[in-house]
Amino acid sequence: MEIIRIPRIMQDTSDDYVLRGRKIGFVPTMGALHEGHLSLVRRAKQENDIIIVSIFVNPIQFGHSEDFYKYPRDIEGDNEKLQREEVDIIFMPEISSMYPEGFLTHVKVEKISERLCGAIRPDHFKGVATVVTKLFNIVKPDRAYFGQKDYQQTVVVNQVVKDLDMDVEIIVCPTIRERDGLAMSSRNAYLDKSQREASIVIYKCLIEASELIKSGIIDAGYIKKIMHERLLKEPAVSGIDYAGVYDHTTFNELSEINGDLLLAVAVKIGETRLIDNILINVKRKR
Ligand code: PAF
Repeated sequence: MEIIRIPRIMQDTSDDYVLRGRKIGFVPTMGALHEGHLSLVRRAKQENDIIIVSIFVNPIQFGHSEDFYKYPRDIEGDNEKLQREEVDIIFMPEISSMYPEGFLTHVKVEKISERLCGAIRPDHFKGVATVVTKLFNIVKPDRAYFGQKDYQQTVVVNQVVKDLDMDVEIIVCPTIRERDGLAMSSRNAYLDKSQREASIVIYKCLIEASELIKSGIIDAGYIKKIMHERLLKEPAVSGIDYAGVYDHTTFNELSEINGDLLLAVAVKIGETRLIDNILINVKRKR
């Protein structure tokens, strides 16, 4: 396994693979790797010849008051895990080589970046779209792998790829969960024992909402109300950014339940912001 830190060297290495007709599978990450990330690596290995994982805590996707400085970092642990998965290359650039002095260009996806997480974290998706565009230009993947836990991110990235004519296939893989249902996330490391126990309310709330929908309820406002009540009953929940039923492509809040839906939640448990979602399809006879 090779570690590359310089974008130009990564580009030259990828050019060489492309010339030799090797398919590149790419897993972009911010490190502090868990089974969710490793499931992406394993899927990438099944479908490509060369596996490249990037580890880069991207400062421009964090707001000023957010957790960029305390975001978990575990370079040694990450290296070991990726070595075990027989990854070919870790691309681990410095901030100064990704955003050198004079950097002026950003990628902004309108509308869908402004809803849900984007409404609470205004420049977050601009930071994600920009770094993903740069990483794709540097790594030159045939396929890139993202987890469904960050569903809105996957829709934003797909939009970038479509709008900017990028030749990359985006593969969205299922959310990997702890035994009790909590979606795996590097930020789970922030939770103390009682917060960790309380955090299962997020998945429970999503499952209960989907069961109510399957039982025939068509009023999305009612589902939203039940979701909020369920979350607020848990004393460890210190705030709800959003919880409800959304169109899975526009992220507009729905009033009536029909077709493909996104049930999504973003809450704070203490100081820790956690998100989760499930996609469901409901066919109503009209
Ligand atoms: O999902 C993440 O870890 C990040 O948003 C990503 C895609 C690596 C961009 O920094």
